[in-house]
Amino acid sequence: MSIDRTSFESLYNGQPRWEIGRPQKALLDIADHITGAILDSGCGTGENALFFAKRGHLVTGIDFLEEPINIAKQKAVERGLTANFRVMDALKLAELPDRFDTVIDSGLFHVFSDEDRQSYVDGLSLVLKPGGRFYLLCFSDEEPGTIGPRRVSEKEIRETFAKEWHIQSIERSRYEVRPDPNDPSFKDGGPKAWFVVVGRVTS
Ligand SMILES: C[S@@+](CC[C@H](N)C(=O)[O-])C[C@H]1O[C@@H](n2cnc3c(N)ncnc32)[C@H](O)[C@@H]1O
Repeated sequence: MSIDRTSFESLYNGQPRWEIGRPQKALLDIADHITGAILDSGCGTGENALFFAKRGHLVTGIDFLEEPINIAKQKAVERGLTANFRVMDALKLAELPDRFDTVIDSGLFHVFSDEDRQSYVDGLSLVLKPGGRFYLLCFSDEEPGTIGPRRVSEKEIRETFAKEWHIQSIERSRYEVRPDPNDPSFKDGGPKAWFVVVGRVTS
């Protein structure tokens, strides 16, 4: 089952754990390898997107909720950065007129059901230029417990990208989250995650 809009709306009414006020370290570490125009899919309030905008990339951030997109737009203004933020469902990427060299996904992929995951990946292949790359940071099945989104196994990732994609790397990583004194889960740098680089095969 996907995590639905209402659940995300109520999470944004509080202080979501993923709102760390800076880009994810996994993305900082590979920033020099990222090229061209970027789509940040499920961008939230835009810390990752704005980091790449500051580095001179043409960046589009999409999120299906208005509230985080409004905050992302406001941050761009306050920081004097240019980025295109729009409210949009990542399961409808076919509606995006633009094509990208890079898509980043920090924390979205793991919210989808098996069925939605496949539609999402079909949409990614439409918006990524041939030879483009998809950078994914998602919860790993090595993270114990059930709090938060579903855990994703390396096998599921390999199966998802078996056709028309080339998996360049799958590495153990962490999805950084805000410490919460009332919630002991996700210690030691955040939940265990996979950091995956996938290339769209040139057709
Ligand atoms: C865990 S948060 C990650 C936010 C941001 N990428 C980050 O790492 O800080 C997941 C985001 O995906 C958004 N989202 C969930 N389902 C979506 C969908 N179908 N289309 C677009 N955005 C979605 C949520 O509103 C939320 O902002």
